[in-house]
Amino acid sequence: MTRLFHHEGELAVARAAHEHRTMYSLSSLSTTSIEEVGSATTGPKCFQLYIHKDRGMSWDFIERCKEAEFSAICLTVDTLVAGNREKDLYTGMVIPPKFSLNSLFSFATHPSWSLNYLLRRKFELANVAGKISEGTGKLTSVVGYMNSQFDRSITWKDAAEAINRWGKPFAIKGVMSVEDAKRAVDIGASAVMISNHGGRQLDGSTAPFDQLGPIVDAVGDQIEVIVDGGVRRGTHVLKALAMGATACMIGRGYLYAVAAGGYAGVDRALTRLREEIERDMVLMGCSSLQQLDRSKLHC
Ligand SMILES: Cc1cc2nc3c(=O)[nH]c(=O)nc-3n(C[C@H](O)[C@H](O)[C@H](O)COP(=O)(O)O)c2cc1C
Repeated sequence: MTRLFHHEGELAVARAAHEHRTMYSLSSLSTTSIEEVGSATTGPKCFQLYIHKDRGMSWDFIERCKEAEFSAICLTVDTLVAGNREKDLYTGMVIPPKFSLNSLFSFATHPSWSLNYLLRRKFELANVAGKISEGTGKLTSVVGYMNSQFDRSITWKDAAEAINRWGKPFAIKGVMSVEDAKRAVDIGASAVMISNHGGRQLDGSTAPFDQLGPIVDAVGDQIEVIVDGGVRRGTHVLKALAMGATACMIGRGYLYAVAAGGYAGVDRALTRLREEIERDMVLMGCSSLQQLDRSKLHC
């Protein structure tokens, strides 16, 4: 729902990612469609799949990604029910955003955002618009959408079916244990994404970084191991790679940037991140990423 942060939305982030030669990942709940992102950039693109109760629509996402030439899919498995997002209740946050007594103060104190929201591109859940009215025509909370639309009955069998239907690189996102990482290998996934959804689901869950070492040790020679959660600085990336991760992902790191300045904001954030990674590699005495290993960490 990047349109909430800036009217340039997902397109700004996808273009900046391409420019910086990194992969962009588009949510099922994006405000720009698979097709529009597909035609806006030829850079590597991942689609994040939420299996909805409407299975036909969910499998159709996969076909749409093939048409739009996405490079990979990741299936998020940590959101069968939504975490209790109390702040949304406090602020009166609903989708599409609406002026209400609760939200009035926030709208009034952010006039530039409010004007852009009212005058620029309309908010819609672009991948499901026309199929699901909640969140586009019909008001709902984010938690309400997740709890009413996501399929809680999904199993490893469904993940295996998604892998078969897609037939290209496929990651399971939200893995937090060695046991689940091994199962991901067994069903033919190409990557596990160690993630606790940025701490937005289960309050007090383990930090993904703390699960990285054991998961790399168990499956790192069979599958790519990607990690996210709190990656804000170049040093965070270097620590994860030194621990054995194949790659890191960032969520809020780019959302703050797109909120501040659209494409220019993300461009600047990614420039800073690259500068930090390169500077810190020099300071660590590393001339290539291959030289990063656990001997570089004090564990
Ligand atoms: C506003 C927001 C929306 C998110 N939406 C999704 C989503 O639709 N699907 C998903 O798999 N993860 C979603 N996430 C979680 C991110 O993919 C990622 O796991 C998390 O943000 C990583 O932590 P970080 O924000 O500290 O980088 C969202 C996170 C934020 C902050």
